[in-house]
Amino acid sequence: MSAVFTPFRLKDVTLRNRIALPPMCQYRAVDGVTNQWHQIHYPGMARGGAGLVVVEATAVSPEGRITPGCTGLWNDAQVEGLAQIAASIKAAGAVPGIQIAHAGRKASANLPWEGDDHIPDGDPRGWPTIAPSAVAFGGGLPKLPRAMTLDDIARVKADFAAAARRALAAGFEWIELHFAHGYLAQSFFSRGANQRTDQYGGDFAGRSRFLLETLAAVREVWPENLPLTARFGVIEYDGNDEETLAESIDLAKAFRDGGLDLLNVSIGFSTIDGRTPWAPAFLAPVAGRVRREAALPVASAWCLDAPQDVERAVADGQMDIVMIGRAHLANPHYPYQLALALGEEKPSWVLPAPYAHWLSRYRGPGKGSAQ
Ligand SMILES: Cc1cc2nc3c(=O)[nH]c(=O)nc-3n(C[C@H](O)[C@H](O)[C@H](O)COP(=O)(O)O)c2cc1C
Repeated sequence: MSAVFTPFRLKDVTLRNRIALPPMCQYRAVDGVTNQWHQIHYPGMARGGAGLVVVEATAVSPEGRITPGCTGLWNDAQVEGLAQIAASIKAAGAVPGIQIAHAGRKASANLPWEGDDHIPDGDPRGWPTIAPSAVAFGGGLPKLPRAMTLDDIARVKADFAAAARRALAAGFEWIELHFAHGYLAQSFFSRGANQRTDQYGGDFAGRSRFLLETLAAVREVWPENLPLTARFGVIEYDGNDEETLAESIDLAKAFRDGGLDLLNVSIGFSTIDGRTPWAPAFLAPVAGRVRREAALPVASAWCLDAPQDVERAVADGQMDIVMIGRAHLANPHYPYQLALALGEEKPSWVLPAPYAHWLSRYRGPGKGSAQ
């Protein structure tokens, strides 16, 4: 059996294989509430065979949404739809996960296909944003955030804990804190975005404090027997990569000591000056280094979908879980196609029985059936 199709156990949760659907915003919610789109999308992905399906960046407060279409977990009315989604992901054989998030200075943006930029000030669809410091991201996201007070910091940490409690009530068995991609938590860690002179800025300890305290707040409410994970950008590709990576590995160790069970290794996206070296599997060696040096289970993604690359990432110990994003959007049965490509003996059994039974002898369009 290929390494990617071996089960993976973390705490009391066992994934049927190492493939995960990463969190991917659908931009279809209204007031943070899910609807038919999400009800069909998520179980559809789970039926394709992934071991873990992580629901999109779900905001811990209205101002923490990236766009007006983002999902939320800041009130109890948002729990019901998510509970149905968690149950149907589970019924399809995958572990239901959810990412909880605060978008910080990148919040209040238009949908990607409507500009992907900040909603202009004064437009009633937008809202004021907050961040560690009053420093705008720039480019298409020029809105000036308000620097957070200590009360704001305490409130957002409590919002993360409350959202985690609601995620648990909704039946999710895996939680991911969104500490990546230039959103609120990542900007606390970023030297450029965080210009604070109090205990939440400055040196490594100061810039890590918000992330570690948020983790601790969630650790208090999330059960010990279920995976508590985070996505964090360990590298910015801004020319200071060795220094950022070394600090990120120290932070990963502190996460581990603070009760984190797995790190989803990603990119910082904290600056418009980042130059990401897009290429197949480009982030996998970085993920492998974090996994080795921080001694923490790791997931990762980004252009990692060619069958041999996916298999190698797991077999070579670069990561425990491979997150397959856009290839899943292109083909929700990607895991079945991967099993075929890797020469699995019974590739169809990656899928649930109502599909697997019929595909076990089917050879593909124009190829007929085996006997
Ligand atoms: C439509 C879309 C929405 C995304 N939304 C999120 C999100 O909610 N949270 C997150 O951490 N990353 C998000 N991402 C990034 C993906 O999780 C993933 O890392 C990225 O697509 C790279 O993986 P891939 O090359 O397999 O697609 C999104 C990506 C896409 C394409």
